Amino acid sequence: MKRGSWKTRFGFYLAAIGSAFGLGNLWRFPYVVGENGGGAFVLLYLFFALVIGMPLLIGELIIGKSTHRSILAATGSLVGPFRRYHIWIARASVLACLIVLSYYAVISGWVLHFSVQFFVGSFQPEVLLEKGRLEHLMSNGWLQMGLASVHLLLAVIIVLKGVQEGLEKWISAMMPIFAFLLIALVFKSLSLSSATAALRFLLYPDFSKLSLSSPLQAIGHVCFTLSVGFGTMVTFGSYLRDSDHVPTAGFRVTIVDSFLSIFAGLLLFPIVLEASNIPLTDPGLLFEALPRFLIQMPGGILFGMAFFICLYLAALGASIGLLEVIVSNVVDRVQLSRSWATWISGGSAFVLAILPALSSTVFKEAKIFGKSILENLDGFLINFFLPLIALGISWMVVRGVQKSEQHKLFVDPTRVESEAMFPHWRMALKYLVPAVIIIAFFLQTISFIKSLDLF
Ligand code: PHE
Repeated sequence: MKRGSWKTRFGFYLAAIGSAFGLGNLWRFPYVVGENGGGAFVLLYLFFALVIGMPLLIGELIIGKSTHRSILAATGSLVGPFRRYHIWIARASVLACLIVLSYYAVISGWVLHFSVQFFVGSFQPEVLLEKGRLEHLMSNGWLQMGLASVHLLLAVIIVLKGVQEGLEKWISAMMPIFAFLLIALVFKSLSLSSATAALRFLLYPDFSKLSLSSPLQAIGHVCFTLSVGFGTMVTFGSYLRDSDHVPTAGFRVTIVDSFLSIFAGLLLFPIVLEASNIPLTDPGLLFEALPRFLIQMPGGILFGMAFFICLYLAALGASIGLLEVIVSNVVDRVQLSRSWATWISGGSAFVLAILPALSSTVFKEAKIFGKSILENLDGFLINFFLPLIALGISWMVVRGVQKSEQHKLFVDPTRVESEAMFPHWRMALKYLVPAVIIIAFFLQTISFIKSLDLF
């Protein structure tokens, strides 16, 4: 099969960073850091991003570049005595795409709501004061459902029309504007009197604040934010040109994405601490804190409009990518036309989205471990399913791609250091990644048993 490839190296970076950067950085990172007590978790996260996330990201790109296929079809070209099990890892990652797409749509719907409110607020500020609050959204489950449906419908139409590539390029090109807005807001937020306390919270590592479940949470978040374990990076890798150096690509995507997460923390924590009455552990942290801050900032409404529109487009780009992975894998395997596959995938995400969308209203009482359905779905996927898939992917790269092929795709003969890095990367995937993930699961199990209060 002849595959297209990225026209320029920059095109690949924009698309890969575009997929990595999204709600994971701005919505999820700050509240998970809040939940896990700040600086020590940030350090753990950065450490795992380098020793787990980056090797896995490079591994996924290598599977794609070596097979020129998406993850499900790629498993057919892999080698090794256990290759028939690879398909299950690939299926799990496509399932992860579907689950994430469903509640990503709900959160994207929240972003859409704030984009519209800030837009309306730019000429009718009183509307924004009334509707630009998270409570307004949380008390209206049907509104959340409606917004999630609009979001999914948009993604389906874009994938059906086959214009996602053009659109993704457009969205990626907007990323620098978003980065600029983010940095400008960070400066503004760091001028608040709470900035010192926020910096201390975010950067000073107090390890006593970590819990037994923190390592697994950090690993899961690293995979989520780097889009590892979903098969997306395999697809991106399949479009890489022969001359593109995979480890450099993996390194740059990891660094840029991690920086953006830290920026999100620097933006949000001074605002949250200044307001003092927002719980740091709330999944609504971003939406609770940022609009309030923007509304009272001079010129903040226009800024807010630009910010939320950019964030919405980033979320739309990620959702299109997720839907695209599901559709291309379904079409590769099942006798279905592309348009049917798109409607069925989008429809399944819609059905799955009903629970998280109504989790703050109709299903308010349906709490598991004291948490809402949305939090449980997110927790199951990211703190359990994704680390398991990551374990599978590390195994699939090391065992499924011939060592000589790994070497060929990893090592760039013009760079001396890349030959030296090759054994380190393999060691990381072969021993470090599995060991760390298994230990993290073990610690999580102890924490779970302790929480049952049996003894
Ligand atoms: N990495 C994205 C984020 O941080 C989420 C995502 C996962 C997007 C997988 C695409 C594929 O928001």
